[in-house]
Amino acid sequence: MLEEVKLFVAENADQVEQFRIRFMARKGLISELFDQFKEVPPSDRRELGLLINELKVSTQEKLDYFKNLFEQSEKATGETIDLTLPAGFREPGTRHPLSIVRSEMIRIFSRLGFTVNDGPEIEDDWHNFSALNFPPEHPARDMQDTFFIAKDPDIALRTHTSSVQVRVMETTKPPIRAIFPGRVYRNEAISARAHCFFHQIEGLYIDHDVSFADLKQTLLYFAREMFSVDTQIRLRPSYFPFTEPSAEMDISCNLCGGKGCGFCKYTGWVEILGCGMVDPNVLENCGIDSKEYTGFAFGIGIERITNLRFQVKDLRMFSENDLRFLRQFEGAF
Ligand code: PHE
Repeated sequence: MLEEVKLFVAENADQVEQFRIRFMARKGLISELFDQFKEVPPSDRRELGLLINELKVSTQEKLDYFKNLFEQSEKATGETIDLTLPAGFREPGTRHPLSIVRSEMIRIFSRLGFTVNDGPEIEDDWHNFSALNFPPEHPARDMQDTFFIAKDPDIALRTHTSSVQVRVMETTKPPIRAIFPGRVYRNEAISARAHCFFHQIEGLYIDHDVSFADLKQTLLYFAREMFSVDTQIRLRPSYFPFTEPSAEMDISCNLCGGKGCGFCKYTGWVEILGCGMVDPNVLENCGIDSKEYTGFAFGIGIERITNLRFQVKDLRMFSENDLRFLRQFEGAF
């Protein structure tokens, strides 16, 4: 009986009453036990008496608990739900422009077989810098650019999504074909053109015989799917510690069609990403045999793509929660 009481749960007031009758009623189990108690030999009385008492106390506790529970909910429902009142109107929210564009970018890359991974925004030195070939004196490690959380060992807010490249390569055997969307942080003065946080989508493709031509074709496909079939791309040689060779990619300005306007600073081109072939050192740092595998990587700024898509002129708009701005993207996708 003790076991039964312990396991008892009631779903409604009726079940509580049934329980009360079974155990506590004048002819219930407990009073029956007390009746039989007279016949117990004196040597067993103490032990049995304690058990019956325990049973009584736990039964009462259960009863009090469930009675209280159902009385309260009865009270609450009785008092607050008036089914004749008109329903409160909940205004539907809108998707954030950066989310709209991020999803579109993910859809485009997933059509090429890229899967999605993520990594932490708080990173150690190895994943954000060292494994990516940043020498100790590299300016990006400077307090001026990086938000440090702790020193020695260094912990920082990641300055780029390239840190996720390292995490994925360390834990995945090639072939790897994945993108890593996420927020990154840099210690910049906030203005219309710079912010202390922004968003990137990193891409990584590692397999046998991956070449620069694959990189170029992948990015051309992305640009044409994202903007229009007549979008042109231009790769300019550049430098990143973790890719060799490296390039920055511009697309023909889709606001002026390449003729030149304020947005492209009258050049006809807009830079949208950094890219390159993964440096063999980086592969080796992450436990991948650089004689067997090659790969490419790229990092695209989501804000930049969003600005091109929706002509947002001030980066601060993205994080100010101004409904007059956000409402303009109602039903964008
Ligand atoms: N991580 C670089 C940046 O934030 C971009 C990049 C990614 C360059 C991958 C090359 C390869 O500027």
